[in-house]
Amino acid sequence: MSEVELQSLITTAIDAAKRAYIPYSHYPVGAALRTTDGRVYTGCNIENASYPATICAERTALVKAVSEGERSFDCIVVATRNAGSPCGICRQVMYEFAPEMRLLMVDFEGNVRWDGVLQDLLPLGFGPGSL
Ligand code: THU
Repeated sequence: MSEVELQSLITTAIDAAKRAYIPYSHYPVGAALRTTDGRVYTGCNIENASYPATICAERTALVKAVSEGERSFDCIVVATRNAGSPCGICRQVMYEFAPEMRLLMVDFEGNVRWDGVLQDLLPLGFGPGSL
C-alpha cells in the first residue's frame, strides 16, 4: 500500500467515527478495513441500551466485509480521540481472518500511536489452525 493510500485509509477511519452511535459512552470509534485487492469497508461503534449488545467499530467493518464475500484483508485503521487500542473481542474476531494484517491505531488528528501486525496484539492467538 502506498503512503497516499494509507493516508486515505486513515482519513476514512476518522470519518467513520463521525457515524458512531454512542449515547452511553460518548466514545466514538471509527475503522477502515482494506481488502488485499484494495476495497475498503468502514465501521463505527453501535451501542445499545442493553450494553453488552454493543458492537465495536472493528467488528462492524469486518462483518460488513465478510457478509459481502470478502475473506482477505491486509490493513485496518482504528481511529479514536486517544488512539485507543482494539478490545480483546475485536482482536479475536479479526484474527480469524487476518492474523498477519497490518493494524494502525490513530487519533482524530491522524497521529499514529501504533503501527504493527495484528498477531502481535494477540500472542499465541487461537485461530482456525488451532482446531
Ligand atoms: N469500542 C470499539 O468500538 N472498539 C474497541 O476496540 C474498543 C471499544 C467501543 C465500544 C463502546 O461503544 C465504546 O468503544 C466504549 O467502550
